[in-house]
Amino acid sequence: MTGATGAIYFVRTVRALARAGHGLDLVVSRYGALTLKEETDYGDYQGGLIDYFETKFSGEWEKGKIAVHHYQDQTSALASGSAVRDAMVIVPCTMKTIAGVAHGFSTNLIDRAADVMLKERRPLVVVPREAPYNVIHLRNLLSLAEQGVSVIPASPAFYQHPKTFDDLGDFIAGRVLSVLGITHDLFPKWQGKESLGQREPE
Ligand SMILES: Cc1cc2nc3c(=O)[nH]c(=O)nc-3n(C[C@H](O)[C@H](O)[C@H](O)COP(=O)(O)O)c2cc1C
Repeated sequence: MTGATGAIYFVRTVRALARAGHGLDLVVSRYGALTLKEETDYGDYQGGLIDYFETKFSGEWEKGKIAVHHYQDQTSALASGSAVRDAMVIVPCTMKTIAGVAHGFSTNLIDRAADVMLKERRPLVVVPREAPYNVIHLRNLLSLAEQGVSVIPASPAFYQHPKTFDDLGDFIAGRVLSVLGITHDLFPKWQGKESLGQREPE
């Protein structure tokens, strides 16, 4: 997680992946920690990040699935191609981290781990959040897409009638799981409009 607004996307994606049975290595940047505290109930939580998830979603998955790595720890296994993971998601992803990954300029464990995923040709998903985008942002996003990175904008849909922030977060979490090939029931799928489907072409 990096320091873009939209911490709820991180919380719901972690929940969705853990519930789906996956082990997770979490890395939160300095400003990611700030937005996580500002925007979610993690700000009121006294314990660490692993405790937070295991307490908040108690019973939804077996304990021990989550590890946490410091964002400045370049000695972490995540920084090495020899211990590469199945996939990596940066959610939400700042324009600063997008730029770092797009240009192979690694300053912390997050952009280094993403660099590793690219060089090892493993799945990398980014959920960029900025408005409006400038030309530099758009060029960097295009560069990542050209390298096979899945770019899922932090743009939730409304056709599934979200009622809560969690619903909005689950939509993005669901898009992330879908591109990783993980089945989920995080939001109702659009079934089409029968009335339109049966209509003669106009
Ligand atoms: C409250 C807050 C919200 C922010 N929202 C965004 C955002 O939506 N997108 C973005 O690119 N940067 C945003 N930033 C700026 C980044 O946090 C800043 O550029 C930071 O250096 C990014 O570092 P990181 O990618 O290592 O987390 C925000 C900063 C703060 C304090």
